[in-house]
Amino acid sequence: MQREKFFSDEVATMAFGRELALVLKQSPNFGAVIYLTGELGAGKTTLCRGLMRGFSYDGAVKSPTYTLVEPYELSTVNVYHFDLYRLSVPEEFKYLGIDDYFKTENICLIEWASRGGAFVPKADLEIKLNSLAGGRQSFCVSGSEKGRDILKRLFD
Ligand SMILES: Nc1ncnc2c1ncn2[C@@H]1O[C@H](COP(=O)(O)OP(=O)(O)O)[C@@H](O)[C@H]1O
Ligand SMILES: [Mg+2]
Repeated sequence: MQREKFFSDEVATMAFGRELALVLKQSPNFGAVIYLTGELGAGKTTLCRGLMRGFSYDGAVKSPTYTLVEPYELSTVNVYHFDLYRLSVPEEFKYLGIDDYFKTENICLIEWASRGGAFVPKADLEIKLNSLAGGRQSFCVSGSEKGRDILKRLFD
């Protein structure tokens, strides 16, 4: 299942992240693996920031480039934001102790998932972002039944 949406500015990208958080919150078991793909500056981290606002987290949300993962362990949910851009070999990802992060009840957002190769768990949802006409075009593709359910709730 695939859906698209245009974000005319940063506020719209953030708002979509917020909506995604609300949909996830309402899902029975709201953990998910979500890939955020697109070039540098496409808005991946911005979307993640919007999602964290949706979970009422008001602190800084920046790309965890050097640490590879930024944990947000809230009272309601654990969100782990990965940015694998600086991964030198896929094996490095394995040594992060990924089993602790990828539990069904946790939300894992992953930028540059392709750098972790086969070690990265499959996505329930992939959100692709592209620059277009001063804004961003998004393509959301489900990779599982859970992902389909999320997309239906978001768009239908
Ligand atoms: N829909 C949008 N239209 C225009 N600019 C946007 C939009 N969404 C985000 N931006 C801007 O684009 C940049 C994206 O940065 P960031 O989210 O860090 O990208 P990435 O994580 O993909 O490298 C930020 O300066 C942000 O303000
Ligand atoms: Mg980023």
